[in-house]
Amino acid sequence: MIVAVAGEKGGCGKTSLAVHLSGWRACAGRDVMLVDADRQGSATLWVESRLEREISAPKTVRQFDRGLRRAIRDLSKRYDDVVVDIGSGDGAAIEAVLRVAHCVVIPVQPNGLDVWTIQLLDELASEALEINDDLRVFSVINRASTHHAGRDVSAAAEALRTFEEVGYSELVIRERSSIRRAVPAGLLVDEYRPVDRKGIAEVEAIHRLVYGNLPPLSGSVAGE
Ligand SMILES: Nc1ncnc2c1ncn2[C@@H]1O[C@H](COP(=O)(O)OP(=O)(O)OP(=O)(O)O)[C@@H](O)[C@H]1O
Ligand SMILES: [Mg+2]
Repeated sequence: MIVAVAGEKGGCGKTSLAVHLSGWRACAGRDVMLVDADRQGSATLWVESRLEREISAPKTVRQFDRGLRRAIRDLSKRYDDVVVDIGSGDGAAIEAVLRVAHCVVIPVQPNGLDVWTIQLLDELASEALEINDDLRVFSVINRASTHHAGRDVSAAAEALRTFEEVGYSELVIRERSSIRRAVPAGLLVDEYRPVDRKGIAEVEAIHRLVYGNLPPLSGSVAGE
């Protein structure tokens, strides 16, 4: 299965989600290729940090520009799972993955300016669906304030429900220090200590939406 994490806006959590999706698949024993399509190379550094400590990790390759679409297709024949981390606003890469992926996840921060950028992705998804019948595209609110009374999430959710092709997953990940600290340390949120059950559950919900159930994670309620 080919899954990409993409978005127009910087810092919305693409790399954080891509490493969790690919990392949990690898921990579950699947042969996974994480394609780092962002020149910043953060996903590659995350994998290298795990390999140095001999923790389970996906394979990784860096791939940009014109060869991306073909490379993803070829890799999908050799690996159980391909996960692609796309750089911010890389329109060519977004168009390429929309044409080959089974699923594209779009993290969005809950503010009006970021939500507006989904309009362009909705149009690109509409064109891609003409040639890619398998495609599912959905948005996920990420980095929402932990103050549940705030209006930002409900306003963003309402706006996200209006798009035609980019479906809103109804999932929200809040701003969690566990997620912010785990990824640069080469960890997944369930490997981070102290255990953050809420953070684990929120990211796990995205994994379940994309792949279905996953084996119990350390630190999650089900994993105890
Ligand atoms: N749910 C979250 N809670 C706390 N911090 C988060 C969360 N999601 C992402 N972050 C943090 O936000 C910053 C941006 O995240 P990340 O690098 O995953 O985004 P990105 O969309 O890949 O960014 P870029 O556009 O630079 O590629 C990082 O510091 C990351 O740790
Ligand atoms: Mg990134």
